[in-house]
Amino acid sequence: MAMIKRIGVLTSGGDAPGMNAAVRAVVRAALAHGIECVGIRRGWQGLINTDFVQMTRASVGHLLSRGGTILYTARSEEFMTEKGQEKAVATCRMLGLEGVVAIGGDGTFRGALALSRKGIPVVGIPATIDNDVGCTNYTIGFDSACNTAIECIDKLRDTMQSHERCSVVEVMGRNAGFLALYVGTAVGATAVLVPEHKLDFEKDVIERIRASRLAGYTHFMIVVAEGAGKAHEVGDKIQEALGIKPTISVIGHIQRGGAPTGRDRETATRMGYYAVEAFAEGRGNCIIATQEGSIVEIPIEEALTMKKHLQMDRYKIMEVMQFGTNLDKDL
Ligand code: F6P
Repeated sequence: MAMIKRIGVLTSGGDAPGMNAAVRAVVRAALAHGIECVGIRRGWQGLINTDFVQMTRASVGHLLSRGGTILYTARSEEFMTEKGQEKAVATCRMLGLEGVVAIGGDGTFRGALALSRKGIPVVGIPATIDNDVGCTNYTIGFDSACNTAIECIDKLRDTMQSHERCSVVEVMGRNAGFLALYVGTAVGATAVLVPEHKLDFEKDVIERIRASRLAGYTHFMIVVAEGAGKAHEVGDKIQEALGIKPTISVIGHIQRGGAPTGRDRETATRMGYYAVEAFAEGRGNCIIATQEGSIVEIPIEEALTMKKHLQMDRYKIMEVMQFGTNLDKDL
């Protein structure tokens, strides 16, 4: 395959800290190969609407520390239709794009597969705070989002401790508990509710609060993954069972913002670089993934069938660290 001359780069789905670092890496790696790079704005919808900007070395300067995405992002329903995809292909042909780097999560990669089936090669870079992409150990943004949630909960703990109260905190993660479990472990939560663990409310929450009380604790922190339930409902149940009224905090979209951590900047830079290497070496239609610390390429179709499970040994570790653990409990 002759060396390609022009590629597009876009960010799609929920934004994640480090997306900008990935865009920067794609642009700079492409330019180093003599490949022109066009930024597509607002994700797949931007391809439909021919919404683009020419990228230069300077246009991606001072981006490493910036959260969000300078290319904007969207969840495009039109791109899910045949007609929308045809319009996107027409834009690629019109702009002379011989490949597209798509930065996002599983939804983005389903779009990538559709476009690649219509003859436009796509390379995907996993970026979502949820870390729920099956083909990769790690997604850009996860570390930053965890650290943001941890910082919020540390602050919350100070006031909970002073007032000897119970707090229920809801964190994001969509249908997965990766973020909640990591955060819950890192803040020493009394209990962590994740969708992957079948909840026994009495045992997993109430008994743990009781046991913590017996051990001398006077404040309690319950972390709930959004996929496991609503914080206010968990709060109501605690009040019903124990007669204490917990404070309710939903960290929400704050988790998606802020400066990316070093891990996210570095991973985004490597993934962006290897995405361009794939195109430069005549490959495409793959996801750049991390597996056991190394960067690998996985064909998009295969990547979309891969599943990643919450590490239940980590769930057990979280439990063991707190009072009220039933070590014999079947995970
Ligand atoms: O996928 C990232 C994410 O932040 C999820 O954690 C959350 O469920 C969802 O996006 C929220 O999406 P929106 O910003 O569209 O409400």
